Amino acid sequence: MRITLSVIKADIGGYVGHSSTHPKVVERVREVVEEAKGKTIIDCDILTCGDDIAIVMTHTKGVDSEEIHGLAWKAFEEGTKVAKELKLYGAGQDLLSDSFSGNVKGLGPGVAEMEFEERPSEPVVVFFADKTSPSAWNLPLYEMFADPMNTAGLVIDPKMHEGFSFEVLDVYSGKAVKVRTPEELYDLLALIGSVSKYVIKNVYRNYDGEIAATASTQRLSLIAGKYVGKDDPVMIVRAQSGFPAVGEILEPFARPWIVEGWMRGSHNGPLMPTSFKDARPSRFDGPPRVIAAGYQVCQGKLIGPNDLFDDPAFDYAREEANKVANILRRQGIFEPHRLPSEEMEYTSLPKVLKKLENRFYDPEEVKGQIKGEVEKGDMD
Ligand code: 13P
Ligand code: 13P
Ligand code: MG
Ligand code: MG
Repeated sequence: MRITLSVIKADIGGYVGHSSTHPKVVERVREVVEEAKGKTIIDCDILTCGDDIAIVMTHTKGVDSEEIHGLAWKAFEEGTKVAKELKLYGAGQDLLSDSFSGNVKGLGPGVAEMEFEERPSEPVVVFFADKTSPSAWNLPLYEMFADPMNTAGLVIDPKMHEGFSFEVLDVYSGKAVKVRTPEELYDLLALIGSVSKYVIKNVYRNYDGEIAATASTQRLSLIAGKYVGKDDPVMIVRAQSGFPAVGEILEPFARPWIVEGWMRGSHNGPLMPTSFKDARPSRFDGPPRVIAAGYQVCQGKLIGPNDLFDDPAFDYAREEANKVANILRRQGIFEPHRLPSEEMEYTSLPKVLKKLENRFYDPEEVKGQIKGEVEKGDMD
């Protein structure tokens, strides 16, 4: 049976501030989606991470289905009504349009979808992060699908031994390029190491072209032209028999690395893997969190979720993340804790700097004239 697994997410209001979701909002979203069970969709589940809500759906309508996207949009609209009633923070934050027009892409919500023939056993992992951007998946996807020191299956499993191909998107031009590993591994790394420009959209198995992983790649700031919160991405990864084992998929998260996001979407911080219940970033609105929800797909039904980071084996990663967080926080507003200037373009910082624009002068030209006074009128 060909199944489509769609994960569509949005921030439709924070409780309190940007730290978490409100149960009443989540409940309303769930109600709307569950009404479609057995009709438009086969099954569904709702996940939350920080102030974001993800709708996980199975169906047979393929990717980019207007019906499925419309259902998610309606659920988020209904949830937004509740968020507005409660005056939650940033109610409707990610719904950048007043109306739905066929596909949620470009309207604010993040989307990760894939269609596959359901295998005799179909384990999948849905990752969901808050206070970061889609490029947060670049490093773990490389490790899962191209690093034999992480994924033993690349060496041991005949179906994985030919490697995987990565579809990489330039978020500024909207153009994509497919890079084949292990042959072009260094080319891949040359691209995806630039996390503000390149993000991995899809990963395919070279053996037969099967889809292995897909991630949401929207950049809200590029859609809206201004800062409206970080993109807080989702990702689907297929596991076992010809794909990395669940443990190989989770392994990159056992050591935290530094991602863009955190406070005001303007800081670098460690990505902390947590259980569902601990995905409530509060310290300096962070540090950024990631959860992993495991499902067995069974005739389109979602058996799960299994809260995969709810394991003491990830305690050390969490402890290390806290140590890295302390070091970075010591840096205050200074780079590299704060993002570089180009990345701050879409925040409110340019407004502040505009005030000083006319006060810049060439120190060589005014040599001897400036004695420390500031012209009246420049003070406002
Ligand atoms: P089991 O022997 O527990 O089925 O595990 C097999 C495996 O591949 C683990 O990664
Ligand atoms: P979100 O992107 O999760 O809404 O966070 C925005 C923010 O400004 C956090 O400080
Ligand atoms: Mg928010
Ligand atoms: Mg968020």
